[in-house]
Amino acid sequence: MTDAANFQTLHVVQHPLIEHKLTLMRCTRTPVAEFRRLANEVAMLLAYEVTRDLPLDEVEIETPLTPMRARKLSGKKLCLVSILRAGNGLLEGMLNLMPSARVGHIGLYRNPETLQPVEYYYKMPTDIAERRVIVVDPMLATANSAVAAVDRIKADRAQDIRFVCLLAAPEGVQRFAAAHPNVPVYTAALDSHLNDHGYIVPGLGDAGDRIYGTR
Ligand code: PRP
Ligand code: URA
Repeated sequence: MTDAANFQTLHVVQHPLIEHKLTLMRCTRTPVAEFRRLANEVAMLLAYEVTRDLPLDEVEIETPLTPMRARKLSGKKLCLVSILRAGNGLLEGMLNLMPSARVGHIGLYRNPETLQPVEYYYKMPTDIAERRVIVVDPMLATANSAVAAVDRIKADRAQDIRFVCLLAAPEGVQRFAAAHPNVPVYTAALDSHLNDHGYIVPGLGDAGDRIYGTR
């Protein structure tokens, strides 16, 4: 596949469990229920990596044996932002590890002719500017949707933003980095290229259709 080292803001999260689960997701014959379960499982593994640099503070606690100083998360609270509808296929897995995170939604669909995103919904927590934001969407293809989503969130003054996906295309990574160089991208795999219809190759097909069984 493409060499991730060419992209400075890209983190390809490598782990045998992720690769195995992604292979199952790519297979055409994987049923909807299994695809949906795998999407959440991979999301949970990606959540582990995207939160790796969260700051910690020392606090005083008591174990059953002794007082001790131990570390707890500190700093900004989290907000997950799901790009509807396929982003919701990653939400549960992410929330398993970050149960207190707030959740925003942005509804975007890709016009199949122009490949431009059309917005139909936008609802964010009122304090999004004070939160660390993790945007989730399974696919970074042309990146038109991801760029539009992050534009919108930045207009709401969110500053600390990361983007998490299952698959990225080199074209999308490049476009996203040009538009939002301060937003790191975490992906489970960097695929080969986009086809003439803007689909990721080899990819896994239409993520929304596969999560919800709509085709
Ligand atoms: C898919 C996917 C992304 C977008 C990626 O959504 O979930 O949001 O395409 O493509 P891009 O990088 O070229 O913008 P889609 O528009 O199919 O909508 P859906 O989630 O409602 O199925
Ligand atoms: N959206 C998808 O769901 N799949 C792709 O391959 C590209 C965009």
